[in-house]
Amino acid sequence: MHFTRMSDYADHDVPVIVKGSGPYVYDENGKRYLDGLSGLFVSQVGHGRTELAEAAAKQAAELAYFPLWSYAHPNAIELAERLAALAPGDLNRVFFTTGGSEAVESAWKLARSYFKLIGQPSRYKVISRDIAYHGATMGALSITGLADIKPMFEPLVPGSVRVPNTNFYRAPLFADSLEDFGKWSADEIERAILREGPDTVAAVFLEPVQNAGGCFPPPPGYFQRVRQICDKYGVLLVSDEVICAFGRLGHYFGSERYGYQPDVITFAKGLTSGYVPLGGMLVSDRLMEPFLEGDTTFLHGVTFAGHPVSSAVALANLDIFEKEDLLGNVKANEAHFRAALEGLRDLPIVGDVRGDGYFYGIELVKDKTTRETFNDEECERLLHGFLSGALYDAGLICRADDRGDPVVQLAPPLICGPAELDEIASILRSVLGEAGSHL
Ligand SMILES: Cc1ncc(COP(=O)(O)O)c(C=O)c1O
Repeated sequence: MHFTRMSDYADHDVPVIVKGSGPYVYDENGKRYLDGLSGLFVSQVGHGRTELAEAAAKQAAELAYFPLWSYAHPNAIELAERLAALAPGDLNRVFFTTGGSEAVESAWKLARSYFKLIGQPSRYKVISRDIAYHGATMGALSITGLADIKPMFEPLVPGSVRVPNTNFYRAPLFADSLEDFGKWSADEIERAILREGPDTVAAVFLEPVQNAGGCFPPPPGYFQRVRQICDKYGVLLVSDEVICAFGRLGHYFGSERYGYQPDVITFAKGLTSGYVPLGGMLVSDRLMEPFLEGDTTFLHGVTFAGHPVSSAVALANLDIFEKEDLLGNVKANEAHFRAALEGLRDLPIVGDVRGDGYFYGIELVKDKTTRETFNDEECERLLHGFLSGALYDAGLICRADDRGDPVVQLAPPLICGPAELDEIASILRSVLGEAGSHL
C-alpha cells in the first residue's frame, strides 16, 4: 500500500470502498461515508457521475490510445486549448503527464533545459519550502520538504534547497503582523538565492496553499514579493497546483485567488475528478520559445501522457464545472465552511483552523494557551491509536496527519453545500471532543 504502515492492518481489515455517489462513498458492507477529502484531493465533481463514465467509454471505443510523441489527437488538442484559455496571463503552452509527480519532474527538467538553451547552463537548483510535499519520484521527492520521507532513498537529486513555510501559527516572532511574517518568509527565498548563488538557481516551487503541515495559506503580499524576487534574479516561479487548481480554492487556478503570475503551473488530481489519471504543466510562451528553434527537442515524455480517454474525461469534467457553476458554489459556501470549522475552536484540542476555499487544516494541540504540541508517543496514540479510526467509524473520510504538527485535513468535493459542510463539522465535533481522553 502507498505511504501506509502495513502492520496497522495486522489485526483489522483494510477498508474496502466499493461504490460512490455524489459526496458519499460506501464500503463493502454497505456503510456510507462522507468523503471529506475528495478521495485524495481529487473528486471535485463527486462520485458516480455517469457523464464522465460515458465520455470515457465513447472515447475508448473511438480511439483508445495514441501517443503524443510526434502525433496529436483531437481531445488533447482541445483540452490544451481550453486549459490555456483558462490559465492566467501568458501560460499558453501545455505539456501533459499522467499525474502530479511527473508534472513536477517535468517542470524541473523544463527549467534546467530552458536555462541551458538560453545560455545560462549553471542554473539547475530549485528552492521549495519546509514540509511541502511535491511528489514521490526521485526529482519530485528531492524538491519535497518532508525530511522524514527522504533518508530511505538518499542520495537524492542534488540542487534542492529548503526555505521556511508560511505557518503563521508557529511563527511567534511575528505574532502581531501576518504581513511582516509574509515579507520575512518571502525574503527568506531571496536570502536562499543569494546564499546559493543567483546564477545557480533555476526555479522556486511553491503551492498556493501548502498542503503538508496542514493547509498554510500565503500571508497577504507573500506571492507578490516572491514574484519580485524571482524577477530580480531571473528565477522561474513554479506554482505547484496539483491540489489547488480546478476549484479547490474557488478558482480554476490557485494563483488566481492570490493574484500572482507564475511561469509554470503544475496540475493533476482535480482535472479529471479522478475518473482517470491525468496531469501536466502549463508554461509561458517565453519558456517554450527556445524549444521551437532548429533541431531542439524537449527530451522528455511518458507513454500515457494526455491519454485520449483521460483528455475526453477532463473535457467532460470541465463541462460539469461550467454547467453546475462549481467555482460559484465554492465561493458561495466557503464562508459557511470556514465558520463551521472555526466553530470547533472551543474544543480544548483545537489549536488552529486554517485554509481557504474547500481546503482546510485543523491543528491539534496539547495546550491551547501555550500552543504546546504533542510528543511523538502522544501523537502516535492520538492519530494512529484513535483519530484515524474514530473519524472513519463515525462516517467521515478525512486525513489525520503528523507530517509536521498533528492536523486533521478537509477537502470535500466541490458539489458540497451547507448540509454536507455542517455534517463534516458535526462529526469532527463529536470525535475531536472525545480525543482528549485517548492520550
Ligand atoms: C502539491 C503536490 N505536488 C505533487 C504531488 C504528487 O502528485 P501525484 O501523487 O499525482 O504524483 C502532490 C500529491 O499529493 C501534491 O499535493
